[in-house]
This record gives sequence, structure tokens and C-alpha cells, in this order.
Amino acid sequence: MLNAVERKIEQFITELDDKEVISLYAKLPHGKRLRAKLILKIAGSSLAVVKTAAIVEMIHAASLLHDDVIDDAYTRRSQPSLNALYGNKTAIMLGDILYSKGFLELNNISIEVAKMVSNAVVQLSLGELKDVSLSKKFNTDKEIYLKMIYQKTASLMEASAGAAALLADKETQSYMRYGKNLGMAFQMIDDLLDITVDAKTLGKPALHDFVEGKTTLPYIYLYETMNERDKHTLKSLHGKILSESESLWIKKAMHSSGVLQKSYAEAKVLIEEAIVLMNKKGEKSLSSIAMAMIEREF
Ligand code: FPP
Ligand code: MG
Repeated sequence: MLNAVERKIEQFITELDDKEVISLYAKLPHGKRLRAKLILKIAGSSLAVVKTAAIVEMIHAASLLHDDVIDDAYTRRSQPSLNALYGNKTAIMLGDILYSKGFLELNNISIEVAKMVSNAVVQLSLGELKDVSLSKKFNTDKEIYLKMIYQKTASLMEASAGAAALLADKETQSYMRYGKNLGMAFQMIDDLLDITVDAKTLGKPALHDFVEGKTTLPYIYLYETMNERDKHTLKSLHGKILSESESLWIKKAMHSSGVLQKSYAEAKVLIEEAIVLMNKKGEKSLSSIAMAMIEREF
């Protein structure tokens, strides 16, 4: 079924009738297509459903193209990012093309689906701006972090599940809650992997988030556990390129303080709630998607 989504995206790109865009798109690694998977599992594989899944994946791909420019990220999915290969201007414009074509196609689905998805794109843009602004100082406020990841990541998964529920004539609330929890947990685990996984496996430099100024949940918790001296040291390393020994100091503190487990447990609570919701509806394959997310190594 995912194949039909890939073919639909290719068709949308071909319709742009631009050789450069077709060849640039061909160089983009596809990723897990998690949002498309959710949509298909909730709503089946009618033409409107496949189109919606293709649109959401195009918007998601666009947001990552822009995000890599914003984050100065030169790798994506263990490969050179498009901005690394062709520069920021090309990456930004391919992003603009993908999401505006996505929006154009969204008009052909339904007003309700279009509202659901476009509202999420507003949220995801607001979330990305918040991420940038927050990274200018050492954020110690967990609620602000949670709101930011809701907007930046969970809003599009929430809307994907909600749009699919609309298309399938299912009630939207629990599916949206499922998508939201999945998105929140996904970002929390992504943030954990930045600390726990070595640079080679991760496909991007380790502790890249902290170097970029992002204090994700484990940093917020770590700061709370530290004495004044260590708090001062941690703050002094924020947003800077770290030496080997500074990275090691942070990683050791993360491991010995138990904040990694604490953050992971929080993501797990969200996943468990999502699983209970879907089990109640007899949506076993949606429960399995949630389960697989929490089983990722951290
Ligand atoms: C990845 O976060 C970023 C997002 C999920 C959202 C990015 C959104 C925008 C750039 C807004 C513009 C939107 C459009 C449609 C053009 P991350 O940096 O924490 O994750 P990463 O580790 O995958 O880079
Ligand atoms: Mg990024």
C-alpha cells in the first residue's frame, strides 16, 4: 500500500514538469513514511486516502529540508543532506515547491481534511520558530519544551491520524490523541538518541542538539538534579562546540543521574496510552506501530 503513496508522490512531482525538481526529489532519502503508514492503517487505500498520505509526506519532507538548513545539519538519514549537497537556496526552494504542491493538491480532498492538515502546518511552523528561539538560551522549563515538541512534531501526526479518521468516517478524537501521543513520544526518543547513540550510528554528530543550543528533556531533568557548580558548568557548555572531554562529562552525568531512563519512561507512558486507545477500538496494527516506536534502542 505504501507503494501506491510513493507512486502518487512521483506523479505529483512529475506534474510539475521540471527536470531539476524531478532529479532533486530522486536524491531525497524517503525515510520511514510513518505518517503515510498511519493514514493507510486508519483509512484504507482509496484514492483520496493515498493522495492525503502523499500530500502529508510531501509536507513532512519539505519541513525537514527547511529544518536542515535552520539546524545547519549536513546529514539526514545517514546521508548528506540536500543543503550539504546543493546549498541552502536549493534546499529551501525544493521545500517550498514540495509543500506548495502539497497544498494545491489538498484542495481536491475535502474542506475538513484541508483544514486539519493546514492547521497542523501552521503549528509545525510555530513550533520550529519556538525551537529556534528557545535554543538562544538554556531553557529549563519542561512545559515550554513539551508545547514546542507538540507543535513541531506531534501536530502533523495528530492531523494525519485525524484526517484519516475523517476520510474513513471514524470518530476523530481518539485517533488524534493517538497521533499526538505518538508524535510526542517520537520526538522525545529522537532527542534521547541524540545523547545515547554514537555519531556514526546516528548519522549526525553526537550531542548535536546541545551544541545547537537545544535543551531537550534529559538536559532539563539533568539540570534539576545538579549542584550549583555542575549547573554552572553545564550552562557554560550550552550552544558551544564541545571537546571530547566535555562531551564525555555530559554523557556520564546523563547516565549516572538516571535522567535518560526518566525521559524514556515519560515517552513510554504516552505510547502506552496510545496502545490502550487503539486496543479499545480493535486497531491492532496501530497498536503495533506504537509498540515498535518504544522498542527502539535508546
Ligand atoms: C525536525 O526537528 C523538524 C520538524 C519536525 C519540523 C520542521 C518545521 C519547519 C521547518 C516549518 C516549515 C514547514 C514547512 C512545511 C516548510 P528536529 O530538528 O528536532 O529533528 P531532526 O533530528 O530530524 O532534525
Ligand atoms: Mg533538525
